[in-house]
Amino acid sequence: MDKVIIFDTTLRDGEQAAGGSLNIQEKLEIARQLEKLGVDVIEAGFPVSSPGDFEAVRSIAGEIKNTVVCGLARAHPKDIDAAWDAVKIARHPRIHVFLSASDIHILHQLKKSRDQVLEMSRDMVMRARNYTDDIEFSPMDASRANPEFIYQVLEGVIESGATTLNIPDTVGYAIPGEFGRLIEGILNNVKNIDKAVISVHCHDDLGLAVANSLEAVKCGARQVECTINGIGERAGNASLEEIVMAINTRGDFFNMMTGIDTRQIYKTSRLVSELTGFTVQPNKAIVGANAFRHQSGIHQDGVIKMPKTYEIMDPRKVGIPSSSLVLGKLSGRHAFNERLAELGYSLSEEDFNRTFQAFKELADKKKEVTDRDIESLVAEEMRTIVEVYRLERIQVTCGDRGIPTAAVKLIGPDGETLSDAALGTGPVDAVYKAINRLVKVPNMLTEFTVKSVTEGIDAIGEVLIRIESDGVTYTGRGADTDIIVASAKAYINALNRLLASRKTAV
Ligand code: KIV
Ligand code: ZN
Repeated sequence: MDKVIIFDTTLRDGEQAAGGSLNIQEKLEIARQLEKLGVDVIEAGFPVSSPGDFEAVRSIAGEIKNTVVCGLARAHPKDIDAAWDAVKIARHPRIHVFLSASDIHILHQLKKSRDQVLEMSRDMVMRARNYTDDIEFSPMDASRANPEFIYQVLEGVIESGATTLNIPDTVGYAIPGEFGRLIEGILNNVKNIDKAVISVHCHDDLGLAVANSLEAVKCGARQVECTINGIGERAGNASLEEIVMAINTRGDFFNMMTGIDTRQIYKTSRLVSELTGFTVQPNKAIVGANAFRHQSGIHQDGVIKMPKTYEIMDPRKVGIPSSSLVLGKLSGRHAFNERLAELGYSLSEEDFNRTFQAFKELADKKKEVTDRDIESLVAEEMRTIVEVYRLERIQVTCGDRGIPTAAVKLIGPDGETLSDAALGTGPVDAVYKAINRLVKVPNMLTEFTVKSVTEGIDAIGEVLIRIESDGVTYTGRGADTDIIVASAKAYINALNRLLASRKTAV
């Protein structure tokens, strides 16, 4: 069986999604999980784009051992040098060079000629090749470019040393049959194509990213670029879990395989969702909350009699835990630890102790603690940022008569106690104003969502917010059975991220 190389770009194109930004610790945590998932290549970032991105790529390159670590670079010497500096400590480094190839981009954005693009792409691949043998080249906007010109570019960069040729559908414009023919055209017209692997990188503007990628695989592509939960620029990228499970479930059709440990899919999806703050829609294929739920009586009847009647995949195959065991207030450390292990977590002693304490507090308020509750607790208690401020106490009065009032007590940077109070248009507004009086960082709240983790009146409420300061967006997340407390935690979380990133930038 042929292998399809899975190139994950969650940490690069995925992070380009509007409103998504991850700090170095969070990127490292995702990279470790991607390695466990078994992806072949991690595109860790775009090193020249910012010192923070450079550092993140370098840290990932220093830690990841079994997976290729790739840095993105425009066809400019300084980008290529920065990409190499960031990935050179990796056991398996790759440089990914890209340059626009469609006339729309060449004329209107680059303001160059096709000949100049040919020359730049060859020269820059040669420059990268002086650093490493593993070079990927992307003619950007290939699906809207002249195919004959794409053939010429590809032939030139292979001669210069490129080993992977990535064909991007940059604006998600392609239609499967047409995209497949482009791949066949490349195989038939680029005379040295046998020296390189053909890759595809599809965006989802028309909802066709996965279909286009799979059609390309059928026509000869052997690397697919994708992201967890399909996050990415605009409508996102092809979703890794959908590509992998299509190849896996329809082995009869594709007769191909990937190196992915599918049982790690669900956990990876949850982690990326928690850290980026991008929730997964309930009907999302493979990892959505409803993906394996049967509502209709006829379907339920069939599944009870024989799961295959309405289930084309076993949920356990993608790592969705079978929740036979529900924990409660009498459950001890051992049972809790076992459940964590079944859910795929292995926490440090310090994180475990904190999470166990939070579990006990939750179990006092909630009769049954489900897997989703536990996932929420872990996300809440795992420290991926330095906590400059911590919420100590909060008290709110509100209702339809009085003026909403909040009093908050925080623990400050030097362990000191800080308290203040404020009035607001509602309880959350009052809390945020009181916090603002203590943490004096100007910002604007751009998004606020609250959702319950499970059904039931005693459910945990999860609050996700985004704030903007100096043109940068920071995500904050908080969970509690009291949604006002969860809102306060989310705001402090976002402020801590903002403060941490300013500290790194200095
Ligand atoms: O969408 C795109 O064309 C890209 C390239 C950098 C590969 O992300
Ligand atoms: Zn892209």
